[in-house]
Amino acid sequence: MITFENVSKQYPDGTRALKNITLTVEEGELLTLIGPSGCGKTTTMKMVNRLIEPTEGKIYVDGNDISSIDPVELRRNIGYVIQQIGLLPHMTIAENVALIPNLKKWPKDKTQKRVDELLDLVGLDPSVFRDRYPLELSGGQQQRVGVIRALAAEPPVVLMDEPFSALDPISREQLQDELVKLQKEIKKTIVFVTHDMDEAIKIADRIAVMKDGEIVQLSDPETLLREPKNAFVQNFIGEERLESGKGPKASQLMFVKTAVVTETKGLAEAMKTLKDHLADTLLVIDESGNYKGVAFLEDIHNSYNEKNMKVKDVLKSDTPVVQPSAPYSFVAEIFAKTNVPSIPVVEKNKLVGLITKASMMRGLAGLKQVEMGKEEELNGE
Ligand SMILES: Nc1ncnc2c1ncn2[C@@H]1O[C@H](COP(=O)(O)OP(=O)(O)OP(=O)(O)O)[C@@H](O)[C@H]1O
Ligand SMILES: [Mg+2]
Repeated sequence: MITFENVSKQYPDGTRALKNITLTVEEGELLTLIGPSGCGKTTTMKMVNRLIEPTEGKIYVDGNDISSIDPVELRRNIGYVIQQIGLLPHMTIAENVALIPNLKKWPKDKTQKRVDELLDLVGLDPSVFRDRYPLELSGGQQQRVGVIRALAAEPPVVLMDEPFSALDPISREQLQDELVKLQKEIKKTIVFVTHDMDEAIKIADRIAVMKDGEIVQLSDPETLLREPKNAFVQNFIGEERLESGKGPKASQLMFVKTAVVTETKGLAEAMKTLKDHLADTLLVIDESGNYKGVAFLEDIHNSYNEKNMKVKDVLKSDTPVVQPSAPYSFVAEIFAKTNVPSIPVVEKNKLVGLITKASMMRGLAGLKQVEMGKEEELNGE
């Protein structure tokens, strides 16, 4: 329904707000754009109704290249809810909602019927609210009017830029519920911008996570929660939400006592530490105890004859780590998708423990974790 094809936007002052975005919003889909302030959400949205023109690339709505559609005509067929509600203060609620139907010269009775129907739909009694002015409504009521005004002329496409952000949490949840219910009936193609991951998860068919003018991940909410593509997305989802995953957490699956050395040690000492722990992976920290990476037995062995080499010379800093709160499913997936023998558990840069397949099995079986390498001694217990 809406397609972005290699779209970039550079503002006259040189700001590159969007970098080569390719994206399709399916018909009847509610897609949310989410990401930190300044990542390009509003820019993306405003291009759909030509409030902003791309510097490169093409945008199609319903198969038509919008650069060849008259912007005014285009906007009449695209509902738009802006963040600041934008109701016209000198017009009544009914007149505000009827704005686009009137521009489209709908017959009076059709428009009036539609206005009442929409007011009903969002729980505003038409006989009470029709003739009021925006300032005589609460913030939440005004937001509802903003939303139904965008829907009034039954546009196939609706753009919503943080429509609920100014609301208190309760009205906000109510309006989210209403939108979900509404969307089941009207099945519009909706692009919805939000800062709030809970909101996105609740209402979206798919979520596009943006960062610095690019789409980092585009998935349905379930996949986004289960398979965040990188640390940025993971942080954005928030630790709290990951904690709600089923089963034990990383902190219950790890060895606490493992083989650790500081990065300035030589390889002989590293080798001894590994042997003492019957381990094949050495965890490396710096002098202040911050996690630096892992050193594998094989790499230490291969460089062993280089007498001047230190642990930091064989260290690998880019292997996956998890937070103590990461759910089992997340840990299992790293083992399934990469070939690392173990996963360090790190919190705020500090090393907390190490998960190996053996420690994971113990944790899953509900057994107490023992010192690394000492499992065998306990097999008779
Ligand atoms: N008219 C403009 N001229 C120059 N730079 C602009 C202009 N409008 C926006 N930008 C810049 O483009 C980038 C993207 O802006 P945009 O408004 O799309 O962000 P956003 O994701 O909607 O942010 P927010 O969540 O704060 O609303 C920002 O760095 C912004 O400063
Ligand atoms: Mg914005």
